[in-house]
Amino acid sequence: MFSATGFSHPNIALIKYWGNRDNRLRIPSNGSISMNLDGLYTRTQVWFDSQFDHDELFLEGHQVSGTAQNRVSALLDRVRDMAGLALYANIQSHNNFPTGTGIASSASAFAALTVAACCAARLELSQRDLSRLARTGSGSACRSIPGGFVEWQPGDDDETSYGFTIAPASHWELVDCIVIVSQDPKHTSSEDGHALAESSPLQNTRIADAPGRLDICRRAIKMRDFDALAKVVELDSNLMHAVVMTSNPPLLYWQPATLAVIQAVKEIRTQGTAVCYTIDAGPNVHVICPKENADYISAQLNQIHGVQKVLTAHPGGKARCIIDEDENIASK
Ligand code: PMV
Repeated sequence: MFSATGFSHPNIALIKYWGNRDNRLRIPSNGSISMNLDGLYTRTQVWFDSQFDHDELFLEGHQVSGTAQNRVSALLDRVRDMAGLALYANIQSHNNFPTGTGIASSASAFAALTVAACCAARLELSQRDLSRLARTGSGSACRSIPGGFVEWQPGDDDETSYGFTIAPASHWELVDCIVIVSQDPKHTSSEDGHALAESSPLQNTRIADAPGRLDICRRAIKMRDFDALAKVVELDSNLMHAVVMTSNPPLLYWQPATLAVIQAVKEIRTQGTAVCYTIDAGPNVHVICPKENADYISAQLNQIHGVQKVLTAHPGGKARCIIDEDENIASK
């Protein structure tokens, strides 16, 4: 029996990863910090078996080929090499949230795939090595392997580039109100966006100042200092999108409702409620606040024209896996 199911949460980057020093190995140009998102998850089953003559990938029950399948097979090849396993796999993956819209679906997808594939192949890797492996599938996936608030140390090479917990999920009761303004897949993948980052005249400045922003963010999390966190999180998000908008060709992930949400967040803050926004590579906005403000803020955001719905997520735990029993395979 070579089958296992992995579970993992997406994460929201508080200090963003944008651009690689090594695109193939996904060694990032700067370090980053994120929070795992409880309540949102990817569940992936990997089943290695001699009946398959190639890897078969199914997302939400639909078979997928092309780039997505090649990225998955490349990660499985690394697992097969390490485990000395010569079997192809059937992979079934499900998300309980919209995919490809800036809710870090590739992070939880590759974190769940990594733990499931290693577990199915009976490879016992340390959390650090699981994080390194997940990174090769999607950079931000290395931050969905450990739990809670996670820092990705950029490193210089495959050995030294991985994510680790800087505070457990229970450390700070923050809420991410995820404002969905579109569920359409984005036009430019983050993989293509990373490759364009160097073409922006602003990227070097963004990278040069990243260690300072990481220090402020790390300290704000440790001290539970929301005001300090809010300032650096918005600055960092704006810097990433400034690079995105000034790359060649320029990209724009925002939609009109994205901007309406940003303005509403500023207005809510002006009225005295602690809150901040951050946006990944998509139009949806992550609005972060202390737990006691979440109901009020979600209700306000739901009223904005163009907002489809608001999901809420608390800090989440690490990726995990279970070895499947025979019956689970039979009932697939
Ligand atoms: O891991 P990728 O290639 O999907 O890149 C993620 C990029 C951002 O979500 C925009 C930022 C981040 O650090 O997660």
